[in-house]
Amino acid sequence: MGNPSPLRLGSSAGSSPLLVLAPLEGITTAAFRRAAMEMFGGLDGAIAPFIGTIRGARRYDYHLRDVLPGVNGTRPLIPQILGADPEGIVHVSRACADLGYTQVNWNIGCPIPNITRKKRGSGILPHPHLIEEVLSRSCRPDLPAFSVKLRLGLEEADEWREVLKVLNDFPLDFVVLHPRTGRQMYRGTPDREAYGEFLARCRHSLFYSGDINSAEDFQGISARFPETAGWLLGRGFLSRPVLAREIRSGRKESFAMKEIAHFLRRLADEFLASGAAPPWILGKMKLYFGYLKHGSDDAAQAGEFWTVLRGCREWSLFEDRLREFL
Ligand SMILES: Cc1cc2nc3c(=O)[nH]c(=O)nc-3n(C[C@H](O)[C@H](O)[C@H](O)COP(=O)(O)O)c2cc1C
Repeated sequence: MGNPSPLRLGSSAGSSPLLVLAPLEGITTAAFRRAAMEMFGGLDGAIAPFIGTIRGARRYDYHLRDVLPGVNGTRPLIPQILGADPEGIVHVSRACADLGYTQVNWNIGCPIPNITRKKRGSGILPHPHLIEEVLSRSCRPDLPAFSVKLRLGLEEADEWREVLKVLNDFPLDFVVLHPRTGRQMYRGTPDREAYGEFLARCRHSLFYSGDINSAEDFQGISARFPETAGWLLGRGFLSRPVLAREIRSGRKESFAMKEIAHFLRRLADEFLASGAAPPWILGKMKLYFGYLKHGSDDAAQAGEFWTVLRGCREWSLFEDRLREFL
C-alpha cells in the first residue's frame, strides 16, 4: 500500500509556516478533515485524534477506521496513540505501518482525569522513567518515526524539565508542546515563558499548540518564537476554518453564515454518506456549530441560528433552516 503521508511533517519539505490541524477527539475526524481541507485549505496536514491502546488487544481494526488511507484523501496525516504500555504502543505503531504510515505521534498531554489516573496522557509526565521505557521500545528504525505531543506537566508546570531530559536522549521525529498543565485543562492562558524555555532546551524540532485563534495571535507568537518548526491549529480553526488561509495571506477572508452553512451541509453529507443516523448527525451539527458561531463575521445572525439549532429535534427542520443560508 502506498504511503498516505508523502509530505513528512517536521521536515523542511513543507510550506512556510508549517500549519497543522491539531487532533481533537471526536471532532477533527476523517469527515471533518476531508471537508475542511477541501473547502478551506491552507493546512499542511493533520495529526489525527488518538487511538487508545487496549491491554492484550491483538486487533485494532475498529479503532483504526479513522486513519484508513482511503478515507483521508491525499493530505499528510499522522495517527496518534494514547497509552502507557510499551507493548500496546508498539502494536498500534506497527498496525499504522501496515496501513502505510511512516510517522506516528504519542499523546502524553491528555488531561482527562479518567485517563491520567491510569498514567496515560499527561498522567505519565510525573514519571519520566515510564516515558523512557516507552521510548526505548517505540523509537526504532523498524517502526514509524515517533513524535510526542505533551503538556508542561500533570500537576506542576515544571515537570517538563525532567521529561525533556528523557526526550532529548531519543531520536524523535518532532515534539509538540501545549504549554498548560493537565490540571489546568483548558483554563487560563498557555504559559509562553515556559514554552520559550522548553524551546531553548529541546534538541528536536518543536511545534507549538495552544490558543492560536486569529492571524494576529499567530503573528504575535511566531514573531516571538521564530525557531518553532510548526504550528498546530485547534479550536481557533474549528471556529474559523479560513484561519490557515488568513495566516498565510495576511488578509481577512469572508466567513459568515453563508460559508458556515455550506460547510455544515458538506459535513452533514459526509456523515450521511457514511450511513450515520440523522439524530446523531444533528448532535454533531450542534457540536461543530458550537465552535463555528464564535468565528462568524456576523455574530447576530450566528446567534439566531444557534437558538434554532439548539432546540432543533428534527432533521428536516435543520435542513430547511440551513437552506435559507445556502
Ligand atoms: C475537545 C478536545 C479534544 C482534544 N483531543 C485531543 C486528542 O485526541 N489528542 C491530542 O493530542 N490533543 C487533543 N486535544 C488538545 C488539542 O490538540 C490542542 O493541543 C489544545 O486544544 C490546545 O490548542 P487550541 O487552543 O489551538 O485548541 C483536544 C482538545 C479538545 C478541546
